[in-house]
Amino acid sequence: MNLVIALDGPAASGKGTLARRLAEAFDLAYLDTGSLYRAVAARVLVDGADPQDEAVAATAAEALDPADLQRPDLRSQAVGAAASQVAAQPRVRQALLDFQRRFAARPPDGLSGAVLDGRDIGTVVCPDADVKIYVVASPEVRAERRHRELIARGEPSIYPQVLAEIQERDARDSARAAAPLKPADDAVQLDTSELDIEAAFQAAKRIVAETLAAAKAE
Ligand code: CDP
Ligand code: CDP
Repeated sequence: MNLVIALDGPAASGKGTLARRLAEAFDLAYLDTGSLYRAVAARVLVDGADPQDEAVAATAAEALDPADLQRPDLRSQAVGAAASQVAAQPRVRQALLDFQRRFAARPPDGLSGAVLDGRDIGTVVCPDADVKIYVVASPEVRAERRHRELIARGEPSIYPQVLAEIQERDARDSARAAAPLKPADDAVQLDTSELDIEAAFQAAKRIVAETLAAAKAE
């Protein structure tokens, strides 16, 4: 059986950390789909082009260079904001769709399944995923986490600015017509606002176990 776990949710809700831990615990491959959009955005910015220009962004997505997935600036706030701009464009999403679906259907290294995290995994990329978790946390908690992350990396960060940027990105990701950020009808919501990483991981493991047990009982 090829087990597919989909985690979606807004910025800094903790989905990447959970996805990585779940992949390790269940011996599954992991794909951070946000890094694909970030790599496209970084390429457009390096080329001095406008992330809102669909033709330019689509060309960057169609010719995505795997080396760009390792760029050190991928996690910056500027690249995150531009990622959300290129991600609103249907041609960009289309160009990245096949790779994500192939990864889920045939995970690398002969592993027997995959964990993918992003915004539209449960709704568009893997609508038949075995487990779907929609990870949320309050905007203030998420901004605090991102702020601490930036400081730890030695990058300048001002909390109110990080909060405003996160809210702006959430609004754009939720309002767009193409694969907007929203929970799949059959997703289980996990609020990590009051949970540390270990508690969130235990809660996510419970959701996986309960969802698989319920599917087996059907
Ligand atoms: O880590 P964080 O949640 O801040 O962002 P990310 O997952 O790296 O995604 C960056 C941006 O890519 C998001 O704001 C979305 O606009 C876009 N994205 C998307 O549209 N669909 C996905 N499956 C993943 C990311
Ligand atoms: O992938 P996403 O943007 O949703 O979030 P993340 O990268 O998993 O988490 C963002 C930051 O919050 C990281 O520095 C995590 O260590 C931290 N975090 C936390 O403090 N508590 C949690 N329950 C989850 C994540």
